[in-house]
Amino acid sequence: MVTLFSLLLTPLFTPSSHASEANPHSISFYPVALNHTTYITNTTQGTHGGIYSAPAHRASDPDHDDRYNYCTMPHPRPETYVAPEPVANGSVEATLVYVEYMQRHQRRTPYNLLPERQDQEYTCDDVHPHIYAAPAPDKHNPAPIPVYGQTYTDPTNPFLTDTIPGTCQYPQLTKGGILDGYQHGRDLRDVYGGDNPLPDAGPSSQVWLRASSSALTQGSAGAVLRGLWPDYNGKIALRRQAEGIDTVDSGFTCAARDRVLEQMKGARAWREHLGVTMLLREELGKMFSIGWEKEEGAWMTSFDHFADAFQARVCNGYRLPCRAKKEGEKEGDNCVTQEQAEEVFRAGDWEWNYLFRGSDLAREYIQLVGSLFIGEIVRRLEAVGEGRRDWVYSHNFVHDGDLGPVLGALGIKALRWPGMAANVAVEVWRADGDHEAFYARVLYSGQTVETIHGPMEWMPLGELLEILRGFVLGDIVSMCQD
Ligand SMILES: *[C@@H]1O[C@H](CO)[C@@H](O)[C@H](O)[C@H]1NC(C)=O
Ligand SMILES: *[C@@H]1O[C@H](CO)[C@@H](O)[C@H](O)[C@H]1NC(C)=O
Ligand SMILES: *[C@@H]1O[C@H](CO)[C@@H](O)[C@H](O)[C@H]1NC(C)=O
Repeated sequence: MVTLFSLLLTPLFTPSSHASEANPHSISFYPVALNHTTYITNTTQGTHGGIYSAPAHRASDPDHDDRYNYCTMPHPRPETYVAPEPVANGSVEATLVYVEYMQRHQRRTPYNLLPERQDQEYTCDDVHPHIYAAPAPDKHNPAPIPVYGQTYTDPTNPFLTDTIPGTCQYPQLTKGGILDGYQHGRDLRDVYGGDNPLPDAGPSSQVWLRASSSALTQGSAGAVLRGLWPDYNGKIALRRQAEGIDTVDSGFTCAARDRVLEQMKGARAWREHLGVTMLLREELGKMFSIGWEKEEGAWMTSFDHFADAFQARVCNGYRLPCRAKKEGEKEGDNCVTQEQAEEVFRAGDWEWNYLFRGSDLAREYIQLVGSLFIGEIVRRLEAVGEGRRDWVYSHNFVHDGDLGPVLGALGIKALRWPGMAANVAVEVWRADGDHEAFYARVLYSGQTVETIHGPMEWMPLGELLEILRGFVLGDIVSMCQD
């Protein structure tokens, strides 16, 4: 067996044969031209095989091909899940002993509200965000009443701008997002429960559950965990760090991180992408009365805000945004077109690839953003590799800005914006042989991630750790001080 293992080390670094042109998942996840600004301007690219729509008030429809789907990224599911190749073909006998899972929250309303009044409402009455606190259970005190938030606008409030009429507390989760979360959890249960490490009845002391300090990730956890454990009746403690020093969601202050980001945005490539999209930004700016003044600058100097405002509509069953029509205006002059939205999304993808893969400063940026989170993952994987059984399953509810650095550190071949519920699963397998040997497989949104190191289908755990440790800084506190 041992000699067979050494033969198996090679496949990892040979070019992936299954990443063939015919695989719609691969085509949509790894656009070859993503590191060129022509990717943005080339309208033939369209959405590059990606999906940017999801229904209102109900769960997303599963996509047979598991294509890139900004609204609901694919995830491991029983219909498509297979064991790593050498295990599946019987040349290695191995047991899945640990899963490190991280996901972005499910779909939601926008963070960034276009400053002009829009003609479509955005309603969230079908979601009850719970906001109560309870004493830890004791005999003497009753549980509190489970109150939830209901957002309304008071027309006499002089600060009311109300550019989107409706009932949402932005960027709250939508009902569709919550229902997607149930499905996400049910599928993970089918894949990782049963004989695999995920306990079937509910969280055990070997299950690690953590969220960022945001309502979005915590709300997603409630939904996904219900899918994982449909019959569990108890309450579940979700770990989180203090907001001001959280190791995810840019919780801790880091001047060096901000400086490196500035530097990346001052570089030629970044300016070139702004140059080729000048016309698009001017058109959108004119439509929504966004100028170049300081407070509106963020709309104009990256595609983050426009992409967010558009996806929040189309990913929840709405049309692309339209400004309320002004007198004498022609139909259509006031609405974002499909072509404009697609270019915005392509530009957003280009930016993510640039920040975490393309830029000369990407490595340094990943270290400053993701060092601590990646370090936490590395320590759990190290413990598994040492044969300890502290954890069998870990699930982290985080943000796009946390998955970007992880995927960048893995050396993903091309990085599109990690969409809603984007996820990475690091599986650790123990090969049954003369002595314990641990192997890793890394899935991105349900399929083996394709990286500059090859597809991460089956590699000694030590090699994966080596790659990740390269992004963990020794003394991030002084590095951050800048
Ligand atoms: C873009 O990526 C491709 C494929 O990975 C690579 O061959 C090419 O050199 C890259 N171009 C730039 C400008 O970085
Ligand atoms: C534009 O995109 C299409 C579709 O991906 C591609 O076939 C074509 O080569 C691209 N054109 C340029 C000029 O990059
Ligand atoms: C099983 O898969 C591994 C890895 O791809 C490969 O090297 C090996 O030749 C395969 N073995 C059989 C019996 O097909």
